[in-house]
Amino acid sequence: YLNKNEELLSNISVYGKTNLSASIKEELKRALPKFLAADFKLNFKDRYQNKILIAAETEVKEIAAGSKEISSILNNVEFGELDEEGYLIKYFKEQDLLLLTAASDQGLLYGVFALLREIQQENDLLELDLLSNPKNNLRMLNHWDNLDGSIERGYAGKSIFYKDNQLVNDLKRIRDYARMLASIGINALSINNVNVSYQETRLIDDKIEMVITIADILRDYGITTYLSANYASPMQLSSIDTADPLDEKVRLWWKEKTAEIYDEIPDFGGFVVKADSEGRPGPFTYGRSHADGANMMAEALEPHGGLLIWRCFVYNCQQDWRDKETDRARAAYDNFKDLDGQFKENVLLQIKNGPMDFQVREPITPLFGAMPETNQVLELQVTQEYTGQQKDLCYLIPQWKKVTDFDTYAEGENTPVKRIVDGSTYNQKNTGFAAVVNVGNDQNWTGHHLAQANLYGYGRLAWNPDLSAVKITEEWIKITFGQDQEVMESLLRMLLYSWSIYEDYTSPLGIGWMVNPGHHYGVNVNGYEYSRWGTYHRADHEGIGVDRSVATGTGYAGQYFKENAEKYETIENCPDELLLFFHHVPYTHELDSGKTVIQHIYDSHFRGVAAVKELQGHWEKLEEKVDSEIFENVNKRLKMQLDNAVEWRDQVNTYFHRISGIDDKFDRKIY
Ligand code: GCU
Repeated sequence: YLNKNEELLSNISVYGKTNLSASIKEELKRALPKFLAADFKLNFKDRYQNKILIAAETEVKEIAAGSKEISSILNNVEFGELDEEGYLIKYFKEQDLLLLTAASDQGLLYGVFALLREIQQENDLLELDLLSNPKNNLRMLNHWDNLDGSIERGYAGKSIFYKDNQLVNDLKRIRDYARMLASIGINALSINNVNVSYQETRLIDDKIEMVITIADILRDYGITTYLSANYASPMQLSSIDTADPLDEKVRLWWKEKTAEIYDEIPDFGGFVVKADSEGRPGPFTYGRSHADGANMMAEALEPHGGLLIWRCFVYNCQQDWRDKETDRARAAYDNFKDLDGQFKENVLLQIKNGPMDFQVREPITPLFGAMPETNQVLELQVTQEYTGQQKDLCYLIPQWKKVTDFDTYAEGENTPVKRIVDGSTYNQKNTGFAAVVNVGNDQNWTGHHLAQANLYGYGRLAWNPDLSAVKITEEWIKITFGQDQEVMESLLRMLLYSWSIYEDYTSPLGIGWMVNPGHHYGVNVNGYEYSRWGTYHRADHEGIGVDRSVATGTGYAGQYFKENAEKYETIENCPDELLLFFHHVPYTHELDSGKTVIQHIYDSHFRGVAAVKELQGHWEKLEEKVDSEIFENVNKRLKMQLDNAVEWRDQVNTYFHRISGIDDKFDRKIY
């Protein structure tokens, strides 16, 4: 590979004088010798000579004025098709020149990472003709990090940012993190937990230095810094005794505070807000709507070009399990739908993919597409809170593809979620993707080595949700492990099936929640059955499931546009995979698969455990082929996963065997 491309690669001219151009040069200097060969020499020129030219549009045009060669290609460079952050990489045969260009240095940076990806995959550079614009303007990650260094729902060590209410000493790690995020196209980062407590509230006040330092690092990689803000900040940080969004003192306080932040960080992104949710303060306290609350903060950000990202995870977490009318699944839609059209232009509603909370299987939140005059952002969870906590392998790209491709029918057939949140359906620009990130200060970032693939895949999907899961997965495997065919085949299987395997041995047919309360790892069939969180399976000796139909249940099914509402409304039409989410059925109910519900429960749980053993088999075969530390890391976790799966299988099967009194058709061991 090197032989063929060496000449090209050893003559690179990089133009540009910004901090981003400096990052570009640094990346090339670090990466190329590593990817190619130890004795590989990089011949950098900041004057154009030949071979590879990396320069933004304006510079290319300047060079063309003095170079026949460059001016001869200008007509074949599609500058007009490049968006602000997009890039073009194209080889010109006659001139023997590889051009990487973009409208901005940010685009160039993404282009350089794309070029490096091509090289890592050993793709032929002479074939390159690649124009790529991000489909989403906002490509964000949310940290749930606290200043004491802990991470809410973190499974890969402590925070990479904070320790003992200070910044960590090793800022280099933050820089490496920024490099990693830029390489997958992330352009926005909120750096503290959405549950903002005392210390974190001070980030917009006497602890702003910490934010400035982080923002300075992230900026070099095109990443904008956001903060999660405490809705009641004026009450903690000033003598004002209210957070009423219509109170003049409160409004003024936010305006002044926000202006102070922008004095220090002129390109500050804005705030992420969790209000009136799980005990957090919010406008409901003052009898005001979420539009009042969001607009008040958005108004403070507006003169500085900042965004206000308001989360729709608002529900009653004080429910009585005896109450069968209240349905948590309805909450986002019920709380927000009627506010459509009332939010300011710089308000973005951030909506979780499902109506409950990142379960292994949930329907898609019906609010997507239901607010045509409101900017919507899709929220995913990369950190594996309910999906194995980075002990169990659960590769989530296939799940997310189901979400992004889900047809809402908002504007008739073919209005998928991805076309709502990329702004194209309703012609919006303040839209995109956000996700709770899965990294910590573990050496390999994500605890489980293979959990890196979730982060990688998230970035790639946020850039282009049309990429297939297979394409993303193959890419990750190649750039992480190289070209070996056996490694590719084994890992492809392991990753692509892991979500359905996890679903098999955990909670069946969309019911969710049979986890241990609090930390949410491992099985506990009734863990949330009699609690206040609105998360019930309603199993008795005859049947299981929650009736969410309009006809006889909570009416949740009716929140969808007609085509989906009709599909979910009846037991006959509802797809098996979500049957128990939408309906209460007897254990003897026959699924589309021809099995009864109870037999499905038994079969899927036995199958799930068997499949984990197969995962182990695939991985063991790779022992000689992957780095020994990585091998051990994954091996150890697969053992934990097997223990976990066995426990899930036996408790779930035993519970439903006891309660239904129906035997397994195949007479397997149930305790
Ligand atoms: C889940 C999670 C919480 C988190 C919340 C949120 O409920 O368990 O830790 O704070 O989601 O998204 O705000």
